[in-house]
Amino acid sequence: MPYYVTTPIYYVNGTPHIGHAYTTIAADILVRHQRQRGQETFFLTGVDEHADKVARVAEQRGLSPREYTDGIVGTWQELPRRLNASIDFFIRTSDEGHARFVQDFLQRVYDNGDVYEGVYAGWYCVGCEEFKSEDELVDGLCPIHHTKPDWLEEKNYFFRLSAYQERLLQLYDERADFVLPHFRANEARSFIAGGLRDFSISRATQTWGIPIPWDQDQVAYVWADALVNYLSALTYARNGDDLRSAYWPAVRHLLGKDILRFHCVYWPALLLSAGYEPPHQLFVHGWLSLDDRKISKSLGNVIDPLDMIDVYGADAVRFWAARSVSFGQDGNVAPDSVHERYERELGNDLGNLLSRTTAMIARYGDGTLSVAGESRIAGGLEALATRVAAAIDVYDITGALEEIWEIVRGLNRHVELHKPWELAKDASKTEELSRVLYELADGLRVVAVALYAYVPETSTRILEALGQPPDVSWEQVAPGRTRAVTGIEAAPPLFPRVDAPTAAA
Ligand code: MSP
Repeated sequence: MPYYVTTPIYYVNGTPHIGHAYTTIAADILVRHQRQRGQETFFLTGVDEHADKVARVAEQRGLSPREYTDGIVGTWQELPRRLNASIDFFIRTSDEGHARFVQDFLQRVYDNGDVYEGVYAGWYCVGCEEFKSEDELVDGLCPIHHTKPDWLEEKNYFFRLSAYQERLLQLYDERADFVLPHFRANEARSFIAGGLRDFSISRATQTWGIPIPWDQDQVAYVWADALVNYLSALTYARNGDDLRSAYWPAVRHLLGKDILRFHCVYWPALLLSAGYEPPHQLFVHGWLSLDDRKISKSLGNVIDPLDMIDVYGADAVRFWAARSVSFGQDGNVAPDSVHERYERELGNDLGNLLSRTTAMIARYGDGTLSVAGESRIAGGLEALATRVAAAIDVYDITGALEEIWEIVRGLNRHVELHKPWELAKDASKTEELSRVLYELADGLRVVAVALYAYVPETSTRILEALGQPPDVSWEQVAPGRTRAVTGIEAAPPLFPRVDAPTAAA
């Protein structure tokens, strides 16, 4: 089955913060890894423009919503570029191809008899772009945004979500891995089992959005428009080529836990209604927090990923995102933890290992690496490919990275254990010396290929420094494939020292 991965499409009412970068990085790690394994892949990300909160920001700036989104979209397109995320398409919900598809999709839901007219009255949180029931509010405030929701009352079109309860339960019962981690599947399943309320899929008082095909006076509710992006993009991302037959339903949606219901309940129901297969799988990750508060624009505690990249580079930010919080769980992040991991793990564990290894090959072997007999580290390297792949297949990007790092630590121990600088002093130990150097080079090459999905630039630099071809296909994660070469020079530091930005900056 091909591998199609998506991130949520991000609201453009502000600029990107580290929480948005987080999902994009995770998706890129997954998709690059699958490409290494020869999978056919497609990676989609983009922006969600037709939100009420977007229209409000535009109004505050004296712009039309379209002028505003056209102005800010560049910053969002820059995010995957600067993160070195290898996306195949960047969708804007204001794309004409998307609007056309949404209209067709909603018409299908309507024709299927799943739409009726009704009046909705309730508390609407514009931060969530969602109605909240009284018991969800805490002291009358949205528990996520800590703001008072608006009282909204209007005539809307409703989607008969309640009619899909049985089919959704069946879906969850038949497909144990439909939603991962499993505790999130349980959460979604109990929400469904608790009874589903129909929800409104249109807005009568807004004009910023996609007109409802059977009633041009209303526009699609932002979620009834946004979710459809995962399918619409496939119809126009490649001019004249409909990618739906190749990639639907082979899709894996990545999302934060804040939008679980929309993805794990509403979206499969809408798809079934419109006559499409539900997605293959959804992975719900946790929140990054700063001082125990979710990092979010509305709470004002954001970390700018582009600033972080300016200082540490994309690879370090990607590494930190995969490593500092176990993917799937919530976690607190301290802004200086990037600095700490940069120095200790990337700089010392990995960077120094490469510098030392290449310097020793240059110095003791005149830059020549020769293939030596029986490797003492082959066992660990042998198992790595399977272990990493198995972890990544269940979205455990943190666990897979730890497997690789275990090898990195092992190679450092190997240096300390065999002390090549002492072997070099003894003419009778030349063979032993070149054996150790080959083991280190071979281990580093395997690590470089295994790490490619996480730190693509670093991976390439390691292979280059070792005089190895830039082949990162997954079969290369195996011992003994390092070629004999000449001309190896002491490599410059992979992660040169940087000054930690001061709090004021
Ligand atoms: N526009 C909707 C999604 C529509 S998808 C059809 C939306 N946008 S958002 O801009 O609020 O981005 C939400 C996503 O950004 C989350 O699901 C998550 O993937 C990511 N994150 C935003 N803040 C985050 C954290 N503090 N921590 C981790 N991820 C976070 O909701």
